[in-house]
Amino acid sequence: VKRITTHVLQEMKDNGEKIAMLTGYDFSMAKILDEAGIDIILVGDSASNVMAGHETTLPITLDQMIYHASSVVRAIERSLVVVDLPFGSYQGDSKQALHSAIRIMKESGGHAVKMEGGKEIIDSISRILTAGIPVMGHLGLTPQSIYKFGTYTVRAKDEDEADRLIKDAQLLEETGCFAIVVEKIPADLAARVAQHVKIPIIGIGAGNGVDGQVLVVHDMLGINNEFNPRFLRKYKNLHNEMLDAFQMYIKDVRSKDFPNDKEQY
Ligand code: KIV
Ligand code: NA
Repeated sequence: VKRITTHVLQEMKDNGEKIAMLTGYDFSMAKILDEAGIDIILVGDSASNVMAGHETTLPITLDQMIYHASSVVRAIERSLVVVDLPFGSYQGDSKQALHSAIRIMKESGGHAVKMEGGKEIIDSISRILTAGIPVMGHLGLTPQSIYKFGTYTVRAKDEDEADRLIKDAQLLEETGCFAIVVEKIPADLAARVAQHVKIPIIGIGAGNGVDGQVLVVHDMLGINNEFNPRFLRKYKNLHNEMLDAFQMYIKDVRSKDFPNDKEQY
């Protein structure tokens, strides 16, 4: 199998082929994602929400991200594995940022890191890149800054913030990032960003004018039926399927239907 590299992703953008990315946090799910042919598995700090049940992405630790990432890496043959640097592991201190990124690469075997922000974290990004570690940017709605924003609504609706976002995207490209996630921004702005920079722009809630798409895997599988933003397409309703399976099992145990003669030794 041909492995996906940052160079393959650049070729995909240059050839107008869209990049498909989903999150993954564990071995079993990552194995299916890789088999399906997903280009990028993002070990997102959304693990803080979907795996650990926190309200925000802030509490997840570097050690926990390494645990999730190493589980994913053991499952894959083809996909590129990108790992989020968690809140507190890279902001405001480029030396600490490099140390955090090196720990992810060494201890998990992931292929790249992702970091939220533009100009304000450029020293950290640049220092990580000097170590030969590929960096994916993340602009627009950046959930690690949720207490600054106050809400999870669409970002960059006014011109000032839109201009800043385009400048940040250009800065990330010049600094050497291999791709950028743009989250929850107007579709026309996202399309402009994708035209302005040569590196791949991967959108979530950012319309169809970008170079690829990403979703949280539990959301697109419909495992969580309480999260229904407009941008989310649910490909299954696994919440109902799983609920049904668990209830059937409970019923079979209670009625002594399970196990039957063939299901025992
Ligand atoms: O952590 C995450 O799942 C993400 C994606 C939503 C881009 O950063
Ligand atoms: Na994230």
